[in-house]
Formats: sequence, structure tokens, C-alpha cells
Amino acid sequence: MKLSKRERDILAGKRGKGAAKAMEILAALGRIHGARRMVAVDSVQVSGISYGNIGEHGLAFLEEWAGLRSRAVVAATMNPGGADRTLWKSLGYPPAYVRKQERVVAALEALGVKPTLTCTPYQIGFAPLFGRHVAWAESSAVCFANSVLGARTNREGGPSALAAALTGVTPEHTLHTDEGRLPTRIVEVKCAVTTGADAGALGYLIGRLVSEDAHGGVPYITGAVPPNGPERINWLKALGAGMAASGSVGLFHLEGVTPEAIADGARLSAAAKARSSIDSLLPAKKALFSGKGPIDVVVVGCPHASAEDLNRILSLLGERKAKIPFWIFTAEVIRKQSQVNGVSAALERRGASLLADTCMVVAPLAELGIRTVATDSAKASFYLPSHHQAKVYFGSLEENVEAAVRGKWR
Ligand code: F3S
Repeated sequence: MKLSKRERDILAGKRGKGAAKAMEILAALGRIHGARRMVAVDSVQVSGISYGNIGEHGLAFLEEWAGLRSRAVVAATMNPGGADRTLWKSLGYPPAYVRKQERVVAALEALGVKPTLTCTPYQIGFAPLFGRHVAWAESSAVCFANSVLGARTNREGGPSALAAALTGVTPEHTLHTDEGRLPTRIVEVKCAVTTGADAGALGYLIGRLVSEDAHGGVPYITGAVPPNGPERINWLKALGAGMAASGSVGLFHLEGVTPEAIADGARLSAAAKARSSIDSLLPAKKALFSGKGPIDVVVVGCPHASAEDLNRILSLLGERKAKIPFWIFTAEVIRKQSQVNGVSAALERRGASLLADTCMVVAPLAELGIRTVATDSAKASFYLPSHHQAKVYFGSLEENVEAAVRGKWR
């Protein structure tokens, strides 16, 4: 792999020890993946933020890197961590856990990573432009950036994303290249995909279909049409999050919808070597549904809710009030906006709580006494049983709002 003079200088330690280590990691990854060179990135999104996930080893790694005093040279943001930094006490988080979580955030801030603590940086001012290279780590955000925005990123791990932040480059391979973005399989959808939960269920099925294809699979999807209006982005977010969870999909093309499919659909679809069809979402809905007994909490906002999502939840609630805990996960920036425009107070009057900086999958659910949740997220429904042994009622946002208001699943 050929490094430029700047990259060789970084490797030689001329920009500090942290940047040198980072370049070492990136060069090694580039060699493994057959990259011929590095590409400059516009932004980085770092995952592995939850103390519950990374533990003592992860924290020690980050603090050691922070001690090397290198800093991000491009805009770098954090994925959700393990606690709401404002509400943790009232939610019953153990203080010792929160202290460790704060150390993770502090180490990353020392490295120049902004404490955005969201999986939807594209909703808070960090949306990459079409065709530009970025190095993002959160799987649902990678899928959204590549597919819906037409930016180019591989599915980075926490350390490789951090390395890209400290150097401003990433090895050019797979989804950064034209060839790596060619579809591996055409997926014909022959059933209605109406709600965001339906889109998540479809994503789950597609992820399983393409997971054996080259580089995690790149589906070219036909026959599925997102709704127009404010639900459209939520639908697209859910579709990508579902397939990123069940497969390792980092990019999908959706006929007539995603920018590369609009620009070059005929050439792209001709490149796919395999073809499958999906007649029903039922297998996904059955696989993702494990609900039983009383619901401890209704959780929505996976991926993190946008301002439009909050308005929609408010309108679904109407004048009704949630009988059981109803948590909506979002970015702190969006929570703050909603506090200014009154949406947060209106939701709270109806018994819903806005949680920021974290999400149900990376939170210590067992320590919070949560065993059974209801959600509209296929991604959360996929991970919660294996990560937290939680039981999950999976259904549309409407069904979840009804569950919150009635206190039980219909
Ligand atoms: Fe985001 Fe957590 Fe879901 S990181 S996509 S809210 S699992």
C-alpha cells in the first residue's frame, strides 16, 4: 500500500505518538483489505462508547490513547454511550457505572471527539455529502450515510474510526470504491412495507439473505416504496438499521429512491449476480417478537428519533397519557430543541420521557430492572434478547403508543 509523504510523516511520529499509532493501524488494515492508498475523510463517527460494552479494557485503551495527546483533525462524533448524562440519577443508574461512563466520554473528548452521543449524526448537522468519504462506525449510520446520502464509508470499528479521526484518512477499499458498491443481489419485494417497523422487518430479512454475499452483501431492492412525508426518513433509517443488524450490510440501493440507484439503476442492477424475492414480512415479525407478560417500558427512537419523529409521537398520543414508562431516545441537541419549542414538555405531560446520550441496547437494562420491553425497532428487537436476555414486543410505532397508553400489548 502506497502512503503519501504526509502519511509517511505521520507514521514516523512527526504529528505525535497517537497519530503515529493510528496510522500504523490504518496501514495494517489497508494491507489486509488490499487497499492501494488512503483517502481523506470529511468526518468520523466513533463507536464503542458504552462502558457496559467496552468495559475496563476499552476504557484503559481510550485513556492510554488520550495520554498520547493527539487530537482529531476532522469533525469526529460519538455514538451513544451507556447513560443519559442528565437524567441518570432519576432513572436509577448505578453511580459507579456512570462515573466510568463519564471517563470514557472524557477520554474521547481529550482526543477531540465531540460528545454528540448519538447514532444519527446526520440529523444534527454532520450529514456527509454525496460521493464524499467518511469513516463511520455505527452500523445503522453507516447504512444511512452510504445508501440514503450516497457518501462512502466502510463499517469501521471503534479503534479504526478513532485512528481515522487522528489522521484524517482511511484505507480506500470496499465501500469506498466503485466496484465495492456494486450490488451483489437483487431483492424483489412483493409485499406491502408500510410502517417504519415494516421497513425494519424487511431490512432484517434482507440482511439475512445477503449476509453470505461478498463483503457483507449489497442488495439492490425493487418493489418497496417508502412513504412520502415526515415518516419517509424514519422508514429509510429503519430499513438500513434492520439489515445492518441481521447481516453486515453497509450499503443498499433502493430502486427509484436512493441516489446511486436513481442515477445509475440499470448498470447497478445488471451487476448483481444473484436474485431473491420476499413475499411476506411475517417470518421477520415472528422472529423479532418474543414478548410475554407485563411490559416494563415502551422504548422508541432506535435509531435516535428526529424532531419530526417527536412530533409524530405527540400526535399519536393526542390527549392521552402513558400508563407505563414510555422512553423516547434521541440526541441531546434534539432534546434541547424540543425543550425550547415545547414538544418535550408536551410529551412529558403525556407520560413520555425523552432520553439522550444513550439507547436501550447499550444501557445496563438488567441493573435498571428492565426485563420486558415493547419497541418499533427491528434492530433493538434483534439485539435485546441476546445482549440483555430481554423479552421484546415488536410492532409499529402506533402499536407501541397504544401499548404505552393501555399499559399492555393489544
Ligand atoms: Fe442507535 Fe442504539 Fe439503535 S445506537 S441504532 S439507538 S441500538
